[in-house]
Amino acid sequence: MTQNQIIDRDYAGEGIYRENIIDHYKSPRNFGILENSDAEYMEFNPLCGDEATMQIKIKDNLIKDIKFKGKGCAISMASCSILTEKIKGKSLNEVKKLEKEQVYEMLSIPISPQRVKCALLSWETLRRLIKIYENKNG
Ligand code: FES
Repeated sequence: MTQNQIIDRDYAGEGIYRENIIDHYKSPRNFGILENSDAEYMEFNPLCGDEATMQIKIKDNLIKDIKFKGKGCAISMASCSILTEKIKGKSLNEVKKLEKEQVYEMLSIPISPQRVKCALLSWETLRRLIKIYENKNG
């Protein structure tokens, strides 16, 4: 049995923030394609094959715009939506300092060990995206 089969993809966590996860899953913010992006990166979760692609536009060291596309479970897609919403307008340096724990805080639901990769798909994508941007722009 694969991870994909045992994971309930619509699972949106427990507690009062569950509705927030469902909302971001069903109506993801910053979902789509960014024309003329400065960098793009696709990350995937090897356990289930789900993926997220992020594109970023940076000006004067600020995140001017960010968009994502992907297919994944409720938590992974809500995480992309929430994270992209939080970082828009922030400085590159600020965003580079984001820790995993802050992503868990943004999600506000308990994350079991089986859901860690789901919750952090957004964060991993963003980290590598920024590295690609920095490699391209010295
Ligand atoms: Fe694939 Fe959550 S089940 S990212």
